[in-house]
Amino acid sequence: METAIGQDLDHAAKLLTKGQLVSIPTETVYGLGGNGLSEKAVLQIFEVKNRPKFDPLILHVDRLAKAEAFVSEIPDVVRKLAANFSPGPITYVLPKKSRVPDITTSGQSTVAVRIPDHPTTLDLLGKLDFPVAAPSANPFGYISPTTAQHVWDQLQSKIPYILDGGPCQVGVESTIVTISAGGTLKILRLGGLSIEAIQTVVPDVEVEKSTQDQPDAPGRLKSHYAPGIRLVIDNPQNYLESYQPNEIGIISFNKLVEGIPEANQRVLSPNGDLKEAAAHLFKAMRELDQGLYKIIVAERFPDEGLGRAINDRLEKAAAKKP
Ligand code: TXA
Ligand code: MG
Repeated sequence: METAIGQDLDHAAKLLTKGQLVSIPTETVYGLGGNGLSEKAVLQIFEVKNRPKFDPLILHVDRLAKAEAFVSEIPDVVRKLAANFSPGPITYVLPKKSRVPDITTSGQSTVAVRIPDHPTTLDLLGKLDFPVAAPSANPFGYISPTTAQHVWDQLQSKIPYILDGGPCQVGVESTIVTISAGGTLKILRLGGLSIEAIQTVVPDVEVEKSTQDQPDAPGRLKSHYAPGIRLVIDNPQNYLESYQPNEIGIISFNKLVEGIPEANQRVLSPNGDLKEAAAHLFKAMRELDQGLYKIIVAERFPDEGLGRAINDRLEKAAAKKP
C-alpha cells in the first residue's frame, strides 16, 4: 500500500468513512485514526500498531455533545473540566453505551473520550458522524510521533494517508482522568494538561500510581515509550567511566553537560520552560536513537507542571528491558 502525506481533509474523511485508517495530527502526538464504532476498522488499528488487544483506545470527537451518542453518562465534574480544558490535552474515561464495540475498550464498561485541540483535526471530526479511535501512531512500545514525518518513518506502506498538521505543540500524550467510585477525580495517566491546571477547576485530585506490571488498563504498563537503546535517568558523570563521551546521548532540561560533545546533547528548553521541554521530548529521544550512541542519559526534570509528565515518560523508557 502506498502512503501519502497531505492536507486534504475531504480525502481523509472519505477514507475514514470507508473504514480505512488515517494518521491524524493533534496537539499532543499524532494519532492512528479509524472509525471507533467499527469493529473492523479498530481491528486494523491494533494490527498496524502491533498493539495487544487488552490496551483500550481513545475516541476523538469535535464536541462533548457528540459523545452522548456512545457514553451513558457525563458527570458534572467532567462537564466542568470540558468547559475549561476541551478542546485540549485531557481525556475522560466514562461509562460506555453498548454501541461502542468491545474491541475498542478492551472489553471494559468504560470508554475514553477526548476533544483534541488541533484545527485540522477538529474540522475533520466535524465532518464525520462517528468518533475516531486513535492511539498514538507508533508501533506498540516505541516513541510517540510528533510530526507527520515520524509517522511516515514507521508506518509507511501500512496506511493510505497521513494528514499533515505540522509539529505537535504539546508533545506528550493527553492527561487521562476518571471519576472514582467515591466521586473523586482520579488521574490515570499524567500528560499534557498539568495537575496544577486541573486543580484550578477541581481542587481535589488523586493520582493513580503507574507502576503495575499487569495493570487493568495497560496504557499504564511500566515500560512503554521506549527508544531502541538503553535509557537511564541519572547524572551523566556516572557514565563517563564505562562509556566514551561520544557514545553517550544526553537529554537535559536547560543546560549542556560538560565533557560530552554538544552534537550528542538535546537541551529541551534553554529558557527552562517545562511546556517547551515537553514539546521537544519525543523528537529528542528519536534523534538520539539513530544508532550513533550506546546509551541515552536523561536528567530528572522538576516534579511540577509538565515536568511530571516528562519524568513519567522518561521512567517508562528507562524501564524497557534491552
Ligand atoms: O494524547 C493522546 O491521548 C493521544 C492522541 C492521539 O489523542 N492518544 C493516545 O492514545 O495516547 P494511546 O492509545 O497511545 O493511549 C491511550 C491510553 C491507553 O493506553 C489506556 O491506558 C487508556 O488510554 N485508556 C483508554 N481507554 C481506557 C479506559 N476505558 N479505561 C482506562 N484507560 C483507558
Ligand atoms: Mg501510545
